[in-house]
This record gives sequence, C-alpha cells and structure tokens, in this order.
Amino acid sequence: MTVNTSSRIVLLGATSGIGLAVARSAAQAGATVTIGSRNPASVDRALRELPDGVTGYTVDASSSDDLAAFFEKAGEFDHFAYTAADPLAGAPLNDYTVDAAFQFFGLRLVHALDAVRLAIPHLREGGSITLTSGTAAFKGGTGWTLGAAASGATISVVRSLAVELAPIRVNAVAPGVVRSPLWAQMSETDREEMYRATGASLPLGRVAEVDDVAKAYLALMDQDYATGTTSIVDGGTLVA
Ligand SMILES: NC(=O)c1ccc[n+]([C@@H]2O[C@H](COP(=O)([O-])OP(=O)(O)OC[C@H]3O[C@@H](n4cnc5c(N)ncnc54)[C@H](OP(=O)(O)O)[C@@H]3O)[C@@H](O)[C@H]2O)c1
Repeated sequence: MTVNTSSRIVLLGATSGIGLAVARSAAQAGATVTIGSRNPASVDRALRELPDGVTGYTVDASSSDDLAAFFEKAGEFDHFAYTAADPLAGAPLNDYTVDAAFQFFGLRLVHALDAVRLAIPHLREGGSITLTSGTAAFKGGTGWTLGAAASGATISVVRSLAVELAPIRVNAVAPGVVRSPLWAQMSETDREEMYRATGASLPLGRVAEVDDVAKAYLALMDQDYATGTTSIVDGGTLVA
C-alpha cells in the first residue's frame, strides 16, 4: 500500500534517531503521522522538528495501559513501526546482570510484542507492521551478545507473526551502525572514532545516516508482497 496522502502511520519510539527520520519521510510523502515515546520533552521537541500536522503523545512502551491509550488516540491506521529502545551500552558477559538483560529484552522484544498485539485491532485492511532488528543478529562480537540475541529474536518473531497475522504484513529492518542518539552514552570523541573506524571498514565507506535506514521502513510499508522478511541496511557490514 503506497505511502501517500491517504496513509495513516503510527510510529512508536519515533521522537529520535531512526523513528524520527521515518516520521519525517512519511509526513513528507503526505501521510498522516502519529508518533509516540516515553519522555514528554522528547515528544514536544520532535513535534517542533517535524512538518505541521504530525501528532504525538507520551507513551511508555513498557506499560500495556499506556500502549492501549496511545493506539486509542491514534485511531485507525495502515502501518505501524516500532523503534523504541534504550541507549546502547554494549557489555561483555563479565558485566552481565539479569536486571539489565530483562530491561534490554523488555523494550526491544517483550513490549514490542505487546505493542503489536494492541495495534492490531486498529490496523486497516492491507496494513503492515515493521519491527526493528540489527545486523548484530548475524555478526555479533565482544559485548554484543544481548544486542545479537534481541536482534535475532526479532527476525524470528516477524517470520512467525507473518504467518499468524496474515494478511497483515509483518517485517523487520536490520540496520548496521547508524549515526543516531542511541550512542549518546559514549563520549563524543569515542563515538566519532567508532563511526569513523566502522565506516572505514565497510564497502560503502561510512556508517548509515538515519535517513538511509528510514527508506527501508517506508519501502516495507509500500511493498504489498513482502511479509516475514528482514531488510538489511548496513552499507555492506555483513559481506565485509
Ligand atoms: N543506531 C544504531 O546504530 C542502530 C543499529 C542497529 C539497530 N538499531 C536499532 O534501531 C532502533 C532505534 O534506534 P535509534 O538509533 O533510532 O535509537 P534512539 O535515537 O535512541 O531512539 C530511541 C527512541 O525510543 C524511545 N523510547 C525509549 N524508551 C521508550 C519507552 N519505554 N517507551 C516509548 N519510547 C521509548 C526514545 O524516546 P524518549 O526520548 O522519549 O525516551 C526514542 O524516541 C533500536 O531498536 C536500535 O537497537 C540501531
């Protein structure tokens, strides 16, 4: 279903980074866009940045009540994408804590599924759901076990839900490293060095910008014949 002026799109975790870029692209394509995230100040800031007409609400994805109220306010829509996540803090297994692991999986997987469950009654015919994975699913490394596991689980989830929820389409986007506020916990110097070194190691010579990745979400919304798939947008990370 082509994203155009008749499309209604709901984006959760869209006040920053990749989700914000999806919101901007969808609004520029003429769609009616509703965004949400946990922090009211983030919602206000995003709405000031986005084109007029975008609506936004505060919603904590870890609360089923919040999610239900958010979708109620959003009404009926064609496409739902979930990009909510806490800042990344890769850690080796030595530093593993059960609480941190539950928190990490909670937002990226457990609450994502709750959001899908609560979004479904609001989806119009021909609708789609897009979740967020990452190339760590295929290529992890020291410190990336949780990221790899959650990303891999998301790929499995969309393959299963695509069958269970058909004809609703369910897909995922798997970015490589993206220049986004997700990395805000690193010092600026370390972060820029990580972007530079990672980019230099890739066939395309740079890490992704959020707009590179946003295109994949819009493409999966547009693509009526894709379901259960994961779109890898990684500048060649997995082949380098
Ligand atoms: N950036 C990368 O390099 C990269 C690479 C691979 C995969 N990914 C994946 O892509 C996804 C999006 O990443 P990003 O780079 O766009 O991150 P980001 O810029 O940090 O954005 C995360 C968004 O999630 C929202 N959020 C956090 N906790 C929430 C909650 N409890 N309820 C609702 N919203 C919440 C944040 O809003 P508030 O400000 O309100 O908290 C923010 O809008 C993540 O799943 C990430 O793992 C990113």
